[in-house]
Amino acid sequence: MGDFSDRALGIQPTGVRKMFDLAGDDVISFGLGEPDFQPPAIAIEAFHQAMLDGKNKYTTTAGLPALRAKIAESWATYQTGLDESNVCITMSGTNALLNLFLTLVNPGDNVLLPEPYFPLYGPDVSIAGGDATYYPCLFEHEFIPQVSDLEALVDERTVAILYNFPSNPTGGTLDTTQRDEMLAFAKKHDLWIISDEVYDRIVFDGPHVSFLGAGYDKVLVVNSFSKTFAMTGWRMGYILSSHAQAMQQVIKMQYYIAACSNDAMQHAILATIEQASDYPDMVAAEFKQRRDLIVNRLNSMPGVECHKPQGAIYVFPKVTVPGMNSQDLAMELLKDGVLCSPGSAFGPSGEGHLRFAYTISQEDITRGMDKVETTLNRLLGMD
Ligand SMILES: Cc1ncc(COP(=O)(O)O)c(C=O)c1O
Repeated sequence: MGDFSDRALGIQPTGVRKMFDLAGDDVISFGLGEPDFQPPAIAIEAFHQAMLDGKNKYTTTAGLPALRAKIAESWATYQTGLDESNVCITMSGTNALLNLFLTLVNPGDNVLLPEPYFPLYGPDVSIAGGDATYYPCLFEHEFIPQVSDLEALVDERTVAILYNFPSNPTGGTLDTTQRDEMLAFAKKHDLWIISDEVYDRIVFDGPHVSFLGAGYDKVLVVNSFSKTFAMTGWRMGYILSSHAQAMQQVIKMQYYIAACSNDAMQHAILATIEQASDYPDMVAAEFKQRRDLIVNRLNSMPGVECHKPQGAIYVFPKVTVPGMNSQDLAMELLKDGVLCSPGSAFGPSGEGHLRFAYTISQEDITRGMDKVETTLNRLLGMD
């Protein structure tokens, strides 16, 4: 008998973290998907005040009713009639995802996952005892999955499909026609849709397109305050669905994962949503400028082709240097003082790409891009 579970032994550290751990302090880091802002001042004040006011206790498992009602109301543009019963506060989007796989997946079931992917999805499915089946989201299709690929992969064991728009790592977003096709696919096969929409408020050139309120009720939305309110360290998120029975199961499961989430922080987030509701728009406006800057720079470099992402905080250019894979390239860039993630850390179709998180100032983006250009010129013999 081994000392550790197959579950633990079967999961590996992610490639993104590996690069991060190799980097020195003086690198220009496009590594982690973490906004470089601080949360709005009201969040910190209200958190402090809530603790002073004695909000240091367990809350109900699903979270404070007033916060849940406020969140439900914030989705009224997508679906009206939602209330607190449709929301479960979680301790991050990461917690929300694990909850959903544990709630929906039986051993032997499979789940359709995007590839390139946010690296938690596959291991989460395997922790739940299921199998991950990856569907491609390729550069040549603007990182949008093709329903013909989904049809070829779905089988009688498939119970759910995860969609992630805006996407980490590709920045891919959907239009409503594409969303409707993907929704129709899920409906046809009676699949749950887990829709990871943690970047819903960081969109640049049009409104966010949600799977919620689009005519199918087997949709569970994952969301988080990490990116939109620059609170990655707070670990607060939520699950939202109009499906009453699913919410009951989700809330029951959440009890066994964490009992409830942080009391004082829930009060602080309620105050933040009430008093700094436009903060995510400020975040998105800054990221839009950075997106424009980094895409223009990358597209002017030899060997690089980059789509203009319409959301999230990443670019995922194709970078071609003969004889080098994305890991080699990322290591060369690291030697020259730039940290980014090899595309292969996000799955096999990420090979040939690099991921740059534009979570640093425009000055640092410019300095970093100068270095990337110098490295590519050298590697391609153009200096
Ligand atoms: C697509 C996606 N989903 C979920 C998460 C989890 O966010 P958190 O656990 O900080 O709420 C992230 C974080 O990078 C992400 O990129």
